[in-house]
Amino acid sequence: MISPEFIEEVLSRVDIVEIIEPRVALKKTGQNYSGLCPFHTEKTPSFSVSQEKQFYYCFGCQVSGSALKFLMEFERMEFIPAVEMLAERVGLEVPKSDQQASTETTRRRKTIFEILGQASAYYCEQLREHPSKERAVGYLKNRGLSGEIARDFALGYSPPGWNNLYDALANSNFDRDLLIESGMVIENEDKTYDRFRERIMFPIRDLRGRTIAFGGRIIGDGKPKYLNSPETPVFHKGRELYGLFEARKRNAKLTRVLVVEGYMDVVALAQFGIGYSVATLGTATSKEHIERIYRLVPQIVFCFDGDSAGRSAAWKALLVTLAAMSDGRSAKFLFLPDGDDPDTLIRREGKDKFELRLERAAPLDAFFFSNLESDLDPDSIEGKATLSKLAMPLLSSIPEGVFKQLMIDALATKTGLEAGRLIQAAGQEQKVAISPTSSPPQRAPAYEKRRTEGPGLAELALSMLVKQPELSQEFEDSSYEQLRQNPEAQFFGEIALVIRQQELLSPGLLLGHFQGKAEFKAIRSAMDQEQLLDVSELREEFKGTVSTLLDRFETQLKQELKKQLINKPFSELNPDERQLIKDNTHPKSQS
Ligand code: UTP
Ligand code: MN
Repeated sequence: MISPEFIEEVLSRVDIVEIIEPRVALKKTGQNYSGLCPFHTEKTPSFSVSQEKQFYYCFGCQVSGSALKFLMEFERMEFIPAVEMLAERVGLEVPKSDQQASTETTRRRKTIFEILGQASAYYCEQLREHPSKERAVGYLKNRGLSGEIARDFALGYSPPGWNNLYDALANSNFDRDLLIESGMVIENEDKTYDRFRERIMFPIRDLRGRTIAFGGRIIGDGKPKYLNSPETPVFHKGRELYGLFEARKRNAKLTRVLVVEGYMDVVALAQFGIGYSVATLGTATSKEHIERIYRLVPQIVFCFDGDSAGRSAAWKALLVTLAAMSDGRSAKFLFLPDGDDPDTLIRREGKDKFELRLERAAPLDAFFFSNLESDLDPDSIEGKATLSKLAMPLLSSIPEGVFKQLMIDALATKTGLEAGRLIQAAGQEQKVAISPTSSPPQRAPAYEKRRTEGPGLAELALSMLVKQPELSQEFEDSSYEQLRQNPEAQFFGEIALVIRQQELLSPGLLLGHFQGKAEFKAIRSAMDQEQLLDVSELREEFKGTVSTLLDRFETQLKQELKKQLINKPFSELNPDERQLIKDNTHPKSQS
């Protein structure tokens, strides 16, 4: 445990505004700062930060807390790393005795993984052997699932009775406390009993294939239809995707991922030949979900009900997706016929027809504009004005690049306004909106000013690299030199170059080289960062991550150049410069 005194000490030195501002656009409103709440979707700001009280509060969804809580919720950090990050910022070191807790936490997590793994094996066994297994097997057959699919998804059966799993696991000498912490066993007034009873069990697995939680479907009718594991140290519902591990295993080369709603949808789609779908676990699509998928594939197809609830869920997903739309990524929206879900539809239509629907699904831009235009007359001047007012703030959340430019160009065509004027108008609106009174200068240091859609890529790459330094050979020096130019990836680029030049091709050599140097601590902590991937997957993931970084910086660079070129007369541009402008810019936005 980190002592409460130490946390107090850290929080008393941190400024919550400095922590939140790089992550959520804030403006000063009277005493407080306010902005759009990052924890729910909204159009007008109800998220408020008090510098005086060092506290945030959302009038819309009522979340609140300190800088520490904010980091944990927003960055999905665990408690200890979040404390460490804040402590480092204010120049404090977590006391030694407190650090031991960190290894204690790691040990507990490890045991919880073991418990969940054994539970999954137990449920699979019950599906094969329990005297009442026919109920479960019959149910699955009835839903058209083969034994092979049940095996691939490790489907299981939690038999009737209150203590089956508990007894089985207690025999393996697991701590009762940890059984409870794992979410598999419930404690109520000194009584302990199994959370899942008489259900079809769907293990939820991380990318490495470790079971991190379960969903359990009731056999037949009854409530709740699905029971899920609670939040545990290894399971955070809002960021996990059911089926991602299985999809990767099934497809050597995934090119797109289909996002659906239900466990059964994922399994049925796989049964009928679409082995690349995943389900959110009863929650809205989050930024984490989307980043997770885009780290693996360049295209997401979202699948929603065709009714108004489905449309509104789709719009929310779109808003979250915008900020992730770096060049090279794409998203589509598929709306299902009334009364169908993917499970019923694929069963009726089969793979080919279903995939045809995927091909024809609405691309992000089409859904974006059709939704915004749905309540207005796009031919009237008023309609055009409203459209540009609604669209520009949303479009500005897209990362700089060709895609953003194309979206702005499309808006320009629709409204008859020039792209440059749209951007200018959006900028002015923002300026007016910021209250003129004592608005604080941007105090966050430059390296904190990363855009929220892409934090952590460089850190991710670093944590892979230090664990397997020979990965540095995947790219040339020139690539790392390029990355080193950029504040976001500077450290990663430097370390990679040193590894290559000094041939520090093992973690031991690497640590040895930096022993006693300033970089040591950061390298050490990158090594300690949990690795969600198998060693075998590390290489591909590393290549993907570094390429993404390189692409991103290249786009930024071009953008910068373009900015400088824009004021030069066209006749003075050299051929390269002319090409650059042609690459990125619709002729319309050039005046
Ligand atoms: P649905 O109610 O649409 O069920 O819930 P479904 O996926 O069609 O399931 P089947 O076909 O009847 O078996 C969609 C998702 O919402 C979550 C689950 O993740 C489910 O897959 N959910 C639903 C729950 O968590 N609990 C519930 O009681 C119901
Ligand atoms: Mn269903």
